[in-house]
Amino acid sequence: MAIERVGVAGFGAMGSGIAQVCAQAGLAVAVREVDQAAIDRGWKAVDGSLARIVKAGRMSEDDAKATRARIRPTTSLADLRDSDLIIEAVLELPDVKRKVFEELDRVCPPSTIFTSNTSSLPIVDMAAVTKRPDRFAGLHFFNPAPVMALVEIVKAITTSDETVSTLRAFVQKLGKTPVVSKDVPGFIVNRLLVPYLLGAIRVLEQGVATPEEIDTAVKLGLRHPMGPFELLDYTGLDINLHVANVFFDEFKDPTMAPPPLLKRMVAAGHLGRKSGKGFYEYDEKGERKK
Ligand code: 3HC
Repeated sequence: MAIERVGVAGFGAMGSGIAQVCAQAGLAVAVREVDQAAIDRGWKAVDGSLARIVKAGRMSEDDAKATRARIRPTTSLADLRDSDLIIEAVLELPDVKRKVFEELDRVCPPSTIFTSNTSSLPIVDMAAVTKRPDRFAGLHFFNPAPVMALVEIVKAITTSDETVSTLRAFVQKLGKTPVVSKDVPGFIVNRLLVPYLLGAIRVLEQGVATPEEIDTAVKLGLRHPMGPFELLDYTGLDINLHVANVFFDEFKDPTMAPPPLLKRMVAAGHLGRKSGKGFYEYDEKGERKK
């Protein structure tokens, strides 16, 4: 089955990037957010990203306009009913995701494939609230979605081989590389990444070095594009705390337990780039203050 129309639930940091990537591949995208203010924030992210791509000479102004025109925002989930594929990227709260899938299951035809962009929640729990557990999988994009070349396809124990092959072809059509993972917390990348990021916070807590020194060490010593504190601020401390809690709950492995500093920073509202303060400080454009 070829995917022509995509429905994206959520126009936040991930949903806006995913909607944009699908539109860039020539697909019609219906994207749902809860209100107009959230839709406006999604557009701001898409417009900023398209402007960067145009400025870098990788897309013409006309193609950027055509890409934008393929994205149709709505506040009603029912407007996603004509989609061949649903990609859910709403809050990482099981109840919120469950409600979204229950409603979509009622309005979409049985042929529509459902996917979640969750980074840590079990795919099978969401598949189980629908009447299509065989046509349900994880589709995990990385931030920033317009740049990152990988998409993890997560095969729950209920997901059919046919669904996985359709998703493989879809990811390739987006110009990205798919890898298939079992439905275990963190899949492949976050399973490796999260203990490393939490380890960096413990290194900081022990006073081994400053965030700047640790970031410089990792960037120059390992050639990572960002150091761990830059990446924590970039993806959001609240998101990382949530993932650590889910991992620790599942594995009971001390390397997955959230360090006290992370919990306290989130409690203080220091969430990283999006709140203006995390391990570093940011201006209103999200640029790091010198
Ligand atoms: N949209 C479009 N293009 C973008 C962009 C965006 N949002 N962000 C960056 N770019 C482009 C720039 O325009 C530039 O293009 P060019 O080379 O053609 O000029 C290129 O990417 C590099 O950007 P910059 O020069 O501004 O800055 P950097 O070289 O520092 O790159 C970065 C920025 C791509 C974000 C890079 O630092 C990076 O790859 N960081 C690591 C990101 C990462 O690890 N993401 C995964 C997080 S884990 C995750 O998402 C899982 C989730 O579950 C938590």
